[in-house]
Amino acid sequence: MRVLVVGGGGREHALVWKLACSERVREVHACPGNPGIAQLADCHPVSAQDLPGILNLAEELRPDLVVVGPEVPLVAGVVDRLEAAGIPAFGPSAAAARLEGSKAFARELTQRHGIPGPRHCSFQGAAQAEEFIRARAWARVVKADGLAAGKGVVVAEDAEEACRAARRLLEEHGGRVVVEERLTGREVSVLAFTDGHEVSVLEPARDHKRVFDADRGPNTGGMGAFSPVPDCPAATVARIEEEILRPTVRAMEQEGCPFRGVLYAGIMLTEQGPRVLEFNARFGDPEAQALLPRLQTDLVEVAEAVRTGGVGRLRLAWDLRAAVTVVAAAAGYPGSYAQGLPIRGLEQVAQLPDVLVFHAGTADGPAGPVTAGGRVLAVTALAPDLAAAAARAYVALAHIEFPGMHYRHDIGN
Ligand code: AMP
Ligand code: GLY
Repeated sequence: MRVLVVGGGGREHALVWKLACSERVREVHACPGNPGIAQLADCHPVSAQDLPGILNLAEELRPDLVVVGPEVPLVAGVVDRLEAAGIPAFGPSAAAARLEGSKAFARELTQRHGIPGPRHCSFQGAAQAEEFIRARAWARVVKADGLAAGKGVVVAEDAEEACRAARRLLEEHGGRVVVEERLTGREVSVLAFTDGHEVSVLEPARDHKRVFDADRGPNTGGMGAFSPVPDCPAATVARIEEEILRPTVRAMEQEGCPFRGVLYAGIMLTEQGPRVLEFNARFGDPEAQALLPRLQTDLVEVAEAVRTGGVGRLRLAWDLRAAVTVVAAAAGYPGSYAQGLPIRGLEQVAQLPDVLVFHAGTADGPAGPVTAGGRVLAVTALAPDLAAAAARAYVALAHIEFPGMHYRHDIGN
């Protein structure tokens, strides 16, 4: 098979790596890819947001399968357009990707179908949002309705901060804001493959969104991840499947927009049980870098089951070892950061067993790879338990160096 992966971050490097492991895959292409992906695939200079460019490339390559990593092209309808052109694509339609593309849509759907989440209400005007917030002690989380690359959510301490957030998000993003109940608990990412009808749930993972150790500092795209999650045992995953993932897939089917692809539920484990914080219409980044190395089932087989209604027969096989993924970021990230700095030590790490390096923000420099993004790369290590996997990941990371490199020291701990 010839496969095309859309995207060029760490998640897409993990997808390309996983697809390249398949006995059925002969050729992998990526757009735009990155220097790490280029070791495994032919990279084409087409942005993941350029739908006409992706369509042209796919018409030219005629791949047997397109795998779409990021949310922006999914929400814009890249899968509808590829499938309409007769090119098989793994991912939800634009109508189904609204689960991620509109937080108001997702909340209203879960409410109509009794799927457990926080109390909420959406508003077009700041005055109404403020009145609602001031009248309710629970209403302290404010979210922009549309895609905001992780920057559209404010978890406020008090009514004033929540009101300020509502005003700012409406001004910056337009549209609507969703005001939610502030829940407390530990978070877990539970993903499922679905063909629109049946689901096959992946092992749970946990992301680390704050930039500094002990969950301090501002939110980022994700500083690391691990899987499995000791405080989310099989019984809890089963509950999340029965109470959240299956009802959501059924609701989408009933409402005429069946979801086919990877459905990602961001869950908070509250004292009252699991509650949905958000849905994503794709693999998480960096969860994919921890999950895909543990997944033993061929991703091509998964994609076929998802596209053709065979998920009920899919039995996922897992490496029972734990995976820990640590992201190395550029100085200043998640604020502004320098680029073009040389990265050293990747050859040594490539020799280490049970260690994988996934490139994210890297580029080819005059004498090897250089930094080209905020999250530069991620190291994933596998070992019999989380502590050993974390230790192995940090030993590997100690070989890698670029000016200003920083990372969290407590991933998986
Ligand atoms: P989201 O992008 O919707 O997942 O929100 C980003 C982060 O904000 C989540 O990972 C949580 O840490 C936090 N968050 C979102 N919604 C809530 C909520 N209703 N209560 C408490 N924290 C939340
Ligand atoms: N790791 C969270 C996300 O991919 O949205």
